[in-house]
Amino acid sequence: MNFEEIQSYNQLKKHSIFLSDTTIYDLFKQDKDRFSKFSRSFGDILFDFSKNLIDEKAFEFLIKSAEQLNLKEKIEDMFDGVKINSTERRAVLHTALRTQKQSIKVDGKNIIDDIKTTNKAMFTFAENVRNGVFKGINGTRILDVVNIGIGGSYLGPLMAVEALKPYKTPLINFHFVSNVDGTDIKETLKKLSPETTLFIVASKTFTTDETMTNAQTAKDWIVKTLGEKAIGYHFCAVSSNVDLAVKFGIEKENIFGFGDYVGGRYSMWGPIGLPLLIAIGREKFIEFLDGARKADEHFLTTPFEKNIPVIMALVSIWNVNFLNTTAQAILPYDNYLKYVPLYLQQLVMESNGKSIDRNGRPVSYKTCPTVFGEVGTNGQHSFYQLLHQGTEKIMCDFILPVISHNETGSHQEKLLANGIAQTEALMKGKTQDEVIYELKAQKLPDNEIAKLLPYKIFTGNRPSNTFLIKEITPETLGMLIAFYEHKTFTEGVFWNINSFDQFGVELGKQLAKRILKDLQNPSMDLLNEYDSSTASLIEIVKDIRK
Ligand code: F6P
Repeated sequence: MNFEEIQSYNQLKKHSIFLSDTTIYDLFKQDKDRFSKFSRSFGDILFDFSKNLIDEKAFEFLIKSAEQLNLKEKIEDMFDGVKINSTERRAVLHTALRTQKQSIKVDGKNIIDDIKTTNKAMFTFAENVRNGVFKGINGTRILDVVNIGIGGSYLGPLMAVEALKPYKTPLINFHFVSNVDGTDIKETLKKLSPETTLFIVASKTFTTDETMTNAQTAKDWIVKTLGEKAIGYHFCAVSSNVDLAVKFGIEKENIFGFGDYVGGRYSMWGPIGLPLLIAIGREKFIEFLDGARKADEHFLTTPFEKNIPVIMALVSIWNVNFLNTTAQAILPYDNYLKYVPLYLQQLVMESNGKSIDRNGRPVSYKTCPTVFGEVGTNGQHSFYQLLHQGTEKIMCDFILPVISHNETGSHQEKLLANGIAQTEALMKGKTQDEVIYELKAQKLPDNEIAKLLPYKIFTGNRPSNTFLIKEITPETLGMLIAFYEHKTFTEGVFWNINSFDQFGVELGKQLAKRILKDLQNPSMDLLNEYDSSTASLIEIVKDIRK
């Protein structure tokens, strides 16, 4: 059933109109218990959604709508391996990579057996790299690991290795090459010595052009100094395409695969997480999986009104579809979480940036918001101006770890004070009277005050969620990311879209192939082939590069 067809939809619409005369601050003034009513805790994570224009009635209607959309059955279908990725006829089982279940069947086969076999091989390989048993061709230990991959084969490990840096082995440095821009790999190789470098070619398909181009450049670099035989010593692969990886020169035992039931942007819990596994070791990696598994169990078994990822999605649906929000800012107050906004951009927008529903019809409602973000307090001195005084209301997710891995003087308290203050400022704003009072205190003349007044007012009433996390550990990071995965899935259920395909990335790739040919070919009449802009751009580029 479509979202607009369910019974609660009209109730929600009507209620959003009713609430438009109220502000979030009014709701706080009316109810002393607002925080406890609109916040939930799980493990070391507190999720506060009270600073949204939401009341008990709206919450009740949202929960009802989740029930009317059969959300519970849909969650169970995902965990049970039903092929909910209907356009690609695939199950969606990234959760199997972190389960403790002994059996999950896909096409009659128990995939847990495969996962266990791969994990055993991958854990041994990672341990050998960490403790120097795995050596380069000249018998030296590996000091640098370079992950070559893009999209889901890049962002997850990049984000998690950075987030869990305090747990990283000091003996190995990690590098990530993703862009087909030669600068990415050239600048990385400049810092490295072939003898002590291990490349992980991370590509589910082993055909992605950017990754294969970078892998070939890395291979040439190794072969040039160490010879052809060195490929087996300095490359491993994470790929489902074993044949192509072997053809590349990688030893079969150093290729770690995963099933087509794991989508790229959901894949860091398995072999795509190899850089993280090497960085933090087996024990911490298992804690990371455990955090995500606890979030899975919470999502699967907790009633909707206490279920954090479900509530995250309900609040988002409320803001996007009833209060006209079109963007979401991810604002982690922790430098180690600096790649979380980048990671969530792919997770959220590649999953839900869609406008055709599961029945092949264009949707008649808004779907995925634009996601962007930056670590606090850097963002405060950049785009927060728009968050506070822009024409659009942006949903903000503040991620505030309480204990820092680098407690230094008053840094952490200042950081936290800033994060909490932003949530208050966005919600409360600053009234005309408050501005006048302040400017008078500065002894400004009345005509000056009248001129400045409109610019100094903050309308407030801008929505935000806050995640208060005791400390970033492998477990809390795993939990937080799994919450976002399940939130994304739940939004997909509301919008009746398939969150697990990504056909939108294909057209650009196709056209780039054709343009590449024309860039490399001697002159031909491009105006017969392209519109005048595209043809001229190709011509001018060719001319400059002649
Ligand atoms: O961007 C499209 C995409 O298919 C992503 O979903 C995926 O994570 C990425 O390309 C990389 O694909 P592969 O791992 O096959 O190289």
